[in-house]
Parts: sequence; structure tokens; C-alpha cells
Amino acid sequence: MEGINNPIGKFYGRVRSRKLTGTQGQLFETLLPSISISAFSDLGDVQAYSEVFVEVGFGHGEHIAQLAVQNADALFVGCEPFVNGVASLLAKIEIHAIENIRIFRGDARLLISEVPDNLLAGIFLLFPDPWPKRRHIQRRFLQADTLVMMCNKLKKNGMLRIATDHPKYQSWVRTLLAQATTQNLFDVRFFDGSTRPNEQSWPRTRYEQKALGDIMYVELTKI
Ligand SMILES: C[S@@+](CC[C@H](N)C(=O)[O-])C[C@H]1O[C@@H](n2cnc3c(N)ncnc32)[C@H](O)[C@@H]1O
Repeated sequence: MEGINNPIGKFYGRVRSRKLTGTQGQLFETLLPSISISAFSDLGDVQAYSEVFVEVGFGHGEHIAQLAVQNADALFVGCEPFVNGVASLLAKIEIHAIENIRIFRGDARLLISEVPDNLLAGIFLLFPDPWPKRRHIQRRFLQADTLVMMCNKLKKNGMLRIATDHPKYQSWVRTLLAQATTQNLFDVRFFDGSTRPNEQSWPRTRYEQKALGDIMYVELTKI
């Protein structure tokens, strides 16, 4: 697959699958312009919100929508280049009259790199594309440098939550966390399907509901 170049790296995901329905197309015209951002600075002063969270690759938006409803005084920035996923989240935002979600339709690395240091309360990376082939490892979202960057953007005790059901990504996460550059950045807690935080605090995504293998959940708390 051809990658899309950006100043940080290439984005390799698919951007579109099914054609949008009429209603979805309408939401792109009526709702999206008012909540879409093209840079973190478009948010202006975020002090009015109790906390700011970023979700990387929100897919169809189940997780971010539920958290936004439950935490109306916090701001949630969802990053997702996949058009059909954005359409699904727009529908949820409309149905539930959600006012505290903003959408960045691009590579989350660009958005996160612009966030002032020590600002975010949380970052969610749920079921990232696994890119299991050895020659594609550099396409994985999580790399030592993205991990360090995300840590810098989190405030003290801010959390990075990761989930994956892919065995190769699971060992990749463990490998990255054992590296010298990342080893002392976080308190690390691993969970499995029976010990994962409850659905209120960590809502299930569409991908999680369909996952076939054992899921590894990781909660990294910035020290
Ligand atoms: C396997 S899907 C998981 C979607 C969702 N998190 C879930 O659990 O259902 C991975 C998603 O990450 C998105 N994605 C991949 N690379 C990304 C990037 N660099 N920035 C933002 N989103 C990305 C893809 O478009 C895709 O929707």
C-alpha cells in the first residue's frame, strides 16, 4: 500500500472503504466543520476543560463517545483518517448531543507532536494496526520515539492506555517498554480479559468486541 507522506513519517492505513450514505454525507457537511481541527492550536485555550484526552485511531468511535458522555467537563480529541470511522463517530455525536469531542482527520503523531508538554490527562491507543510482517515493523504506531513523545505530552500521573490482541504487537509493546529510553518513564500495569478495568472506565471498542485472540491491556502511568 502506498503511504501518505507527512513531516513525521508515512501514514499507511486505509482512508475509506464503503461509500457514505446520504445521512452520513450530510453530517460531514453540517456537523464536521464545527468540530474538526487541523492542528492542536485550533482548540485555542483548553483551560476551560477539566482535562484533555487524545484517542489515536478511534475506529468507529465507541470508546471516545462513551467517555465523552461520561465526562462532560473534559475535552476529547479523536484522531482518525478513516472516513467511514469518522462518519460513525459523527452519528454518535449527533444522537447523544455530545459537545466535548473534536476530530483530527489525520495521523495522530502530527497532532500529538503539537500538544504542549505536560498537558494531556490521557492517550488511548486501542487495537493499533499490528503490521505483523518484519519488514513492516517501522509502520507500527508505537515506536520508541512515539512512546517518548507521548510521555512528554502527558502530565504527571497521566495515562497511556494500549490494548492489542495481536501476539506480535504484544511482544513489541513489552520490548519497547524494556528499552533504556522508555524503561523509567512510566509505572506499567498489564491486564488480561479477566482483570481489565471495568467498561465504565475503559469502554470496549468495536475491534475489541470482535477480537479473536487473548487481549493484552496495558496502562502506563507517567511517573
Ligand atoms: C485496527 S483499527 C482499531 C480501531 C479502534 N481503535 C477499535 O479498537 O475498534 C486501527 C485504526 O487506527 C487508525 N490509524 C492507523 N494509523 C493511525 C495514525 N497514525 N493516526 C491515527 N489513526 C490511525 C486506522 O485508520 C484504524 O481505524
